[in-house]
Amino acid sequence: MTSAERPDKHSPTALAFATQMVHAGNTIDAATGALRTPVVMANSYALPEDPSKVSWSGALPGLYTRNTGTNQQGLEQKLAVLEHGEAAVALASGVAALHAVFFTLLKTGDHVVVANVTYEAVHRLFTELLPDKYGITATFVDASDLEAVRAAIRPETRLVHIETVANPTTLVTDVAAIAGIAHAAGALLSIDNTFTPPPLFRPLEHGADLVVHSLTKYINGHGDAMGGAVIGSEALIRRLKLDAMVDVGGVISPFNAWLIMRGSVTLPLRLRQHCASAQTVAEFLEADPRVAYVVYPGLASHPQHEIAARQLTGGFGGMMAFAVAGDTATQNRFVAALRVITSAVSLGHDETLIVHVDGSGPRVAAYPAEFREYGHLRLSVGLEDADDLVRDLAAALDATFPAAPAHGSEGPAR
Ligand SMILES: Cc1ncc(COP(=O)(O)O)c(C=O)c1O
Repeated sequence: MTSAERPDKHSPTALAFATQMVHAGNTIDAATGALRTPVVMANSYALPEDPSKVSWSGALPGLYTRNTGTNQQGLEQKLAVLEHGEAAVALASGVAALHAVFFTLLKTGDHVVVANVTYEAVHRLFTELLPDKYGITATFVDASDLEAVRAAIRPETRLVHIETVANPTTLVTDVAAIAGIAHAAGALLSIDNTFTPPPLFRPLEHGADLVVHSLTKYINGHGDAMGGAVIGSEALIRRLKLDAMVDVGGVISPFNAWLIMRGSVTLPLRLRQHCASAQTVAEFLEADPRVAYVVYPGLASHPQHEIAARQLTGGFGGMMAFAVAGDTATQNRFVAALRVITSAVSLGHDETLIVHVDGSGPRVAAYPAEFREYGHLRLSVGLEDADDLVRDLAAALDATFPAAPAHGSEGPAR
């Protein structure tokens, strides 16, 4: 091995993913020798003797935390390595990251093509706030229908926004195909990759211009800090930093940046477990006749399983949606009978979380028929032992349907 081939933690792009997640963005603290960048809870940094050259509204470290703090800077370096992007901006939440993209890149009269299944706040931004306040219009499309995406493009379309695996239906989008459509029309493509962080999927390698993450979810992974990020080219990220961070103030707190930096070290290990356990749980649910439906990209029955298998690397993520056979009260009874799985919003947590959403309301109109008939239980499979999760689900099914135990669901083992 020549010295040029020797791995070096200071050249993270030449390292394997797990090594990168340990070392990227971290520095030995010059003052104390600490191996981990300490949390720097300071608003301001000492100015040079002659501050006349300081850019007061620039996005550089060493001035003021809203212009880039020490912990934010390290996290941004790591996120750029994570998604194979030139640069990243870390912000206060996933929604702040989405807002940064839309607010910075769009102006009055612009048009956006948006997937009709996305995280709820995206829908609200494009149906209420952005049209009402800024005159930005949007067309909502089934992102799995490439003809519908192409037909929705207008001369004034500036952006296409979709999720790799959509929240909550788990619809999987062919990102490279959509990138081709967006770019042919001169529009940018932003992808929310929150459900499938690297190494599962890297949208920039499939033609996306910007990747959005809620860091609150898998990248932090411990359910104890909020953050969001956008990753892309130096030029685009610089615009987002200046507009959405320095001038609008969506900056991440140093402590949250530090927590997410720490949490992200174990991302490769955690994702492996989330994916393996989710596959086990999805197969269990699909085999039980008391379950009305289950959608998980790793099941052959998933409508876009073939795209998911081609596009994702190393697993299908930890997210699925299902319902038990019954009405809203039955779904609630089932959730109430769970003893390991917790009823709570959010995802990508170490704990398995379930949230019941009924089949009514305007958002749900774009969901598949079974979601409208039964509602859905969105399940974020956590890091507990998969057998415990299956036993919990099986016991809750037995409690919900006492007269009709399923095949193999009785017996002392559970
Ligand atoms: C896909 C997706 N994007 C963005 C967000 C928003 O993230 P945050 O809660 O960190 O603002 C969420 C939250 O659930 C999400 O599921």
